[in-house]
Amino acid sequence: MKPNDHVVLAYSGGVDTTACIPYLRQEMNCQFIVAMTADLGQGDELEPIRQKALQAGADIAVVVDAKDRFVREYGFPAVMANAMYDLQYPLSSALGRPLIGDLLVQTANEFGCGAVAHGCTGKGNDQIRMDLTVALLAPELKILAPAREWGFSRSETIAYSERFGISSHVTKEKPWAIDLNILGRNIEAGLIEDLQWEPTEEVWNLTSAIENTPSQPEYITIHFERGIPVALDGKKMSPLNLMEQLNTVGGRHGIGRVDMIENRVVGIKSRELYEVPGQQILIQAHRDLENLVLPPDLLTQKSALEITYSRMIYEGLWYSPLKLAIDAFILFTQQNVTGEIRLKLYKGNSKVVTRKAPKSMYRHELVTYDSNCTFNQSSAEGFIDIFSLPSRIWSRVNA
Ligand code: ARG
Repeated sequence: MKPNDHVVLAYSGGVDTTACIPYLRQEMNCQFIVAMTADLGQGDELEPIRQKALQAGADIAVVVDAKDRFVREYGFPAVMANAMYDLQYPLSSALGRPLIGDLLVQTANEFGCGAVAHGCTGKGNDQIRMDLTVALLAPELKILAPAREWGFSRSETIAYSERFGISSHVTKEKPWAIDLNILGRNIEAGLIEDLQWEPTEEVWNLTSAIENTPSQPEYITIHFERGIPVALDGKKMSPLNLMEQLNTVGGRHGIGRVDMIENRVVGIKSRELYEVPGQQILIQAHRDLENLVLPPDLLTQKSALEITYSRMIYEGLWYSPLKLAIDAFILFTQQNVTGEIRLKLYKGNSKVVTRKAPKSMYRHELVTYDSNCTFNQSSAEGFIDIFSLPSRIWSRVNA
């Protein structure tokens, strides 16, 4: 048994996780604290954050570059599943948590810790995702969640840190809370809680206002191989690179802004804003390609599973058996999802304009109105007769 007063904390550098460090030591009797910062593309300078963890009293502080893994192992599988929570949110924040949880477990093994900790509060979804991930991957680890029990307000949290000589560096309190990674940006709280308030431009950061987008459309071509995006405009690139490029070009055209009422796992409805240009474009293109290559009954079943799958990601069940079984189903469906989708980006919109796939099920000789059509129209009458039989009987009985 590893000592459970030795703990790895998921550390972001923010006010809450910073206060967790003295709190773990003083109030929760932790003897040895490792701060683990995962780089998921949040764009922060991470060495100062690592230093901050040490100043706040961590014994060891490590930074793990997980950007590429994040896109490859979490972002792209979500694209294969066309994963959209409540049909709008491509789960950009939610997908980060199972990865951070996995890294916590890994780091705990590395440093011989018997406990992990995070700074999630008791009102959100992230605590569920973190706790569930650790519980499913390493049930022997103890989970500590200081921010769930301390009951501090924001200013009390800062005051608590200051008691231990930790300067909070909160120069100006930001008017909303932001969660950023390479898959997208989430903005919540503050003015956004007022449903009557229309977000002003300063809320947005990855996407241009429609008024400022280029006056000319831009075309992009995405190449998929077995469901995985592999190239942009004919150029092969790494998952991370492709994601970055798509965020840039999509953002430039004002694509991927979401303003929604979200159903949290804990039963609360919240208003959330997202900027998810790359992930939104990828799912749109991927879904279109699937339409071209998959038979209709498979598409129907897959889209039903996609709803379940998206919900499971949202609920933190990434490592659960049902989720893993759906993964196997999805993987099977992707064997023909190879091809090229061309999109036109313009004024906040992306439209698929052309598509191409070696295993396309689109047969021109069947659908064409030309004389060389091979579809046997004379079979149609008998087909309709039998196809409609139950409905016709019902009509007659209930006439
Ligand atoms: N509401 C979103 C979700 O549950 C975003 C959460 C972002 N996390 C945060 N701590 N701000 O996925």
